[in-house]
Amino acid sequence: MNKKFKRTTITSALPYANGPIHIGHLAGVYVPADIYARYLRLKGEDIVFIGGSDEHGVPVTIRARKEGITTQEVVDRYHELIKDSFERFGISFDIYSRTTSKTHHKVASDFFRKLYDEGKFVEQVTEQFYDEQTQHFLTDRNIKGECPRCHNTDAYGDQCEKCGATLSPEELINPYNAETGNPLVKRETKHWYLPLDKAQPWLEQWILNDHKEWRPNVYGQCKSWLDGGLKPRAVTRDLEWGIPVPVEGAEGKVLYVWFDAPIGYISNTVELCEQRPELGSWEKWWKDPETRLVHFIGKDNIVFHCIVFPTMLKEHGDYILPDNVPANEFLNLEGNKISTSKNYAVWLNEYLDELPGRQDELRYVLTANAPETKDNDFTWADFQARCNNELVAVYGNFVNRALQLTQKYYEGLVPERSELTDFDRETLAEFDGIKAKLETLLDNFKFRDAQKEAMNLARIGNKYIADSEPWKVIKTDPERVKTIINISLQLTANLAIAFEPFLPFSSKRLREMLNMESFRWEQLGNTDLLAPGKQLGSPSLLFSKVEDSVIEAQTKKLEDALKANMEAEYKVEPVKETIAFDDFQKLDIRVGTVLECERVPKMKKLLKFLIDDGMQKRTIVSGIAEWYEPEQLKGKQVLFVANLAPREFKNGLVSEGMILSATNWDGSVVTTTTLSDVKPGSQIS
Ligand code: 2FM
Ligand code: ZN
Repeated sequence: MNKKFKRTTITSALPYANGPIHIGHLAGVYVPADIYARYLRLKGEDIVFIGGSDEHGVPVTIRARKEGITTQEVVDRYHELIKDSFERFGISFDIYSRTTSKTHHKVASDFFRKLYDEGKFVEQVTEQFYDEQTQHFLTDRNIKGECPRCHNTDAYGDQCEKCGATLSPEELINPYNAETGNPLVKRETKHWYLPLDKAQPWLEQWILNDHKEWRPNVYGQCKSWLDGGLKPRAVTRDLEWGIPVPVEGAEGKVLYVWFDAPIGYISNTVELCEQRPELGSWEKWWKDPETRLVHFIGKDNIVFHCIVFPTMLKEHGDYILPDNVPANEFLNLEGNKISTSKNYAVWLNEYLDELPGRQDELRYVLTANAPETKDNDFTWADFQARCNNELVAVYGNFVNRALQLTQKYYEGLVPERSELTDFDRETLAEFDGIKAKLETLLDNFKFRDAQKEAMNLARIGNKYIADSEPWKVIKTDPERVKTIINISLQLTANLAIAFEPFLPFSSKRLREMLNMESFRWEQLGNTDLLAPGKQLGSPSLLFSKVEDSVIEAQTKKLEDALKANMEAEYKVEPVKETIAFDDFQKLDIRVGTVLECERVPKMKKLLKFLIDDGMQKRTIVSGIAEWYEPEQLKGKQVLFVANLAPREFKNGLVSEGMILSATNWDGSVVTTTTLSDVKPGSQIS
């Protein structure tokens, strides 16, 4: 730890209690935060690791309306579910509380009131969108309308999901209430604003000069906010769900969720310190300059944690500011965006049920693919490959060989090592650097590289035992085997420690197999962790192969979710402009019989047809190869436009017409035909 600090307060973003936790949350926030917390604990540092559910805001109320239950029921359900899955997954929070707790309501309310009393807010009356029928002001996310760019009529007040444009509700054409469809009017309302513009000078100094070490994505986002010039931000809302604004005349208004949620970190620390007096006062964790504050978040939360919350803390006075905010980018899933509302995700609770006992496998893969510098993709194929080729074939294999051979040759007693070969010395030398290497990476929040280093050590072990071939040498030089096994066991113990922050479940099992009481980080690099003669516990496999059937089932689940979304989102295209009968008469649509049908070399999408059109044979090329085998269409009757000007393809092929097909809701294509056979050349009218 940096000399300046005596202890660390680690926070991880409070997830909205509007759905279960998914792998995107885990990779972005909770796995890295947990690695860091476990690492510091293993070093014997003083830390608190704070978590909890974010139970206010619009997302939970939307969920309640969707499910037809009360908002309280929604947050109760998901808070319990999230808390339980984090626990099962080994996220080692010191506390996991909630923003609907009494403590939080008081802490957040008092926080607001102090700033209010000291005149830190700016009061402003503005016009907001209002639904006269339901008598509600609407937040950005509850407003929909036509996107000014792509004219999608379903764009949200903050974003168009079709073209990706960032919007404000004012920009929408014909805004309406997303829930009721009612048109909206503008109405005046008073709110309290945090004057970020006034904070701009010290924020610039504090972030741009004093925290150049922050991750480039975090620093860059802050810089662009600062360069754009900060504006006052409303910290209250016209809503029923939330913490009432503790000011007379503010009935029907609550604290903005982004005002109360980060204060949740403080409230949860207050609760924790009440539960565990040995931690001292909560103030020690939030107000002592010798405490280091670190926020783990996803990239969409950067502005709130680097600009808004620090301004709140500074305005309040006495509080420390975050020393670092290691925000991650996003994790995608099989090339698509993860989405709670669209049910497109790998949900943690389902993962835990469907792949029981495989917590470390998911932790490993999410760290190996951690979106630390750019968005990354999770695929089940990669999950399987990493589990089977790395965890099973390298780490698990090595450890299992070392432990099994100890049982087989020495009845589970650690053998003594004697004379060393060059290979032994080289292998032992590899232990030396590991502690410093891991520390440099972990201290700089480079968890992906740190885990790679740990795996590298396992590779060294695997190679050592494979190349030393103790199972052969035992027949010729049993003394030598003792040394090989001793070194392998010392390496195993080192691996168990090095992997503890990343793979806590297997490290614990390994610790039990090695019969070690506890681990300490300082032990890392020690080549005499297991004394000769020590009795080891009975070994069992650390990891097992992930079978194809598991991957297939998971992949199918995602494909089904995608299909369900497409179906739900499918909209019949509006009818084109009316045409005159004469215009229709110009089209010559006829029935043709498919005489031949074949694929076109190097043109994957095309099928080439030879059609009997009643008078002659004509060639028609159609882009439906993805949907039909040529044999399926031979002999069939199809409808085609007979008087379309011939069209030449890049390879010289000429199409003399167009076969009519329907594009289905899922993008699949179905070719048209007649209900019963007719003479080729018959006209459609
Ligand atoms: O983005 C989110 O899921 C928010 N609920 C995060 C809040 S973090 C903190 F402020 F509590
Ligand atoms: Zn758009």
